[in-house]
Amino acid sequence: MSARDVSSVGERLQRGPGPEDWWKTAVVYQVYIRSFADSDDDGVGDIGGLRTRLPYLAELGVDAVWINPWFPSPMYDGGYDVAEYRDIEPAFGTLTAAEDLIREAHDLGLKILLDIVPNHTSSEHRWFQAALRGDAAARARYIFRPGRGDNAELPPNDWSSNFGGPAWTRVTAPDGSAGEWYLHLFAPEQPDLDWTNPEVGDEFEDILRFWFDRDVDGFRIDVAHGLSKADGLPDAGPRDGSLAGNAFHPAWDQDEVHEIYRRWRKVADSYDPPRVFVAEAWVSSSERLAQYLRADELHAAFQFDFLRAPFRADVMRQVIEDVTAAAAVVGAASTWVLSNHDIVRHVTRYARSQPARLVDSDWEHARWGSESADLTLGRKRARAAIMLTLSLPGGAYLYQGEELGLAEVEDIPSELRQDPTWIQSGHTDPGRDGCRVPLPWSGESPPFGFSADDASVPWLPQPAEWATLTAAAEEHDSESMLNLYRRALSLRRKYFTGLDPLTWLESSAGTLALRRGDVQCWVNTGPSDVPLPQGQILLTSGFGVDSGVLPVDTAVWVVVS
Ligand code: GLC
Repeated sequence: MSARDVSSVGERLQRGPGPEDWWKTAVVYQVYIRSFADSDDDGVGDIGGLRTRLPYLAELGVDAVWINPWFPSPMYDGGYDVAEYRDIEPAFGTLTAAEDLIREAHDLGLKILLDIVPNHTSSEHRWFQAALRGDAAARARYIFRPGRGDNAELPPNDWSSNFGGPAWTRVTAPDGSAGEWYLHLFAPEQPDLDWTNPEVGDEFEDILRFWFDRDVDGFRIDVAHGLSKADGLPDAGPRDGSLAGNAFHPAWDQDEVHEIYRRWRKVADSYDPPRVFVAEAWVSSSERLAQYLRADELHAAFQFDFLRAPFRADVMRQVIEDVTAAAAVVGAASTWVLSNHDIVRHVTRYARSQPARLVDSDWEHARWGSESADLTLGRKRARAAIMLTLSLPGGAYLYQGEELGLAEVEDIPSELRQDPTWIQSGHTDPGRDGCRVPLPWSGESPPFGFSADDASVPWLPQPAEWATLTAAAEEHDSESMLNLYRRALSLRRKYFTGLDPLTWLESSAGTLALRRGDVQCWVNTGPSDVPLPQGQILLTSGFGVDSGVLPVDTAVWVVVS
């Protein structure tokens, strides 16, 4: 890109987004639908529950809602095993209810993003069922290969499943003999599709249109970096193949994947207004991620390094610098996120010691038994972290329940855990259930208004301590996390929705200070109080902040004249 191109990108960014570019600065609220709100008292969240809570989301002040997969699914992986892409899982509702929800959200000014799962289908999808029956055309849509070894008894290569164990399962041929192996980068119930087969691409473009025709505003793309595999499916060797692993791996982030997104972008742009995509892509660097954001590809991609950063000014600043620099090269907006349905909740991540490097959930799980969590400290830091997040240029994603200050539930009884990670790891990795516990809305005891009927049993148990963290309890507490989020989101609309870049301000070790427009954001992650410039304080994450002092584990938005 020439110097001239770069400066015109800069000018475009500073002007701020037009209505078609809403996603560049949007705050999107993630709804993990099984755990959001239950309208039919079966202990599982659903579309009816979400519809009744849309006013809560509008009042919170978000711009859009991303709904995790709601398609018919046997639920081996919480809906990321899709059996039919053009319908609604009966436990969640009906297609008509979904259409009503989309209309009602739009009436409240909320956009709707769905979650598309193109890397794999459910093993119960009609294509895979036909493949198992020996239908050659159906088989060619998946990745079947002969095994290695004298009797083909070894998997075709050394790839591991993200949930533990080998990434290959051997099938029995229709005549009863041992057959070929099929690839599944996740659970065996999630066979990977073969994206070199044009029928797969055609099918997914049709699925996109099906939902865009129903006024869906865009899609989050599941495992967006996984669709293309290296030619010949070579062994990975000692490389780390996990999603958060940073090494280049033949299953992930292959250059061919970009051609798929160029085609998808054309589909999105053929609508008025154009539809948008946000990628879940765990890749090895901010530069590799930026490639997904080139002008003719995807609109946004989660910056997971920010979510992997400890509450430490040095690491956070390094990540923010890398991410904004890489995004600027392709003229893209950054996308910030602190928590989601796959990761230990950030209140808990910040509640223990903070190492000077990026970490992941495996590392967090490993220290559960050895280091106690100070959740009061975790919440204090989480309050500061959301103010930092919302002051950064770009879009931001909130994960349901973070606005209530929910922590990870670490003590779910083993027999109630449901995540395939728990099962496939032979019960050594607790998996992701702890961040997926149904939300507490009201009342003094479970189900905390999640289901209307007090006798309903939520699909994962809620801790008794959540009585003080219900939306109803926090509503009337002016110092609650909920009211902090509401105030911060409303001030963000006023002060931070332009695309003007951030400017770093000089500040002492352990602190971050940045300016966007007229407002400065100061964050103290260090061990002692530091001076704060005099000015008009718009918001503080802590209590009793005196003008002129920035206490530890606190953030402040201040207008300095
Ligand atoms: C993504 C989802 C995760 C799911 C996996 C397989 O990482 O966020 O929940 O298990 O893809 O679809």
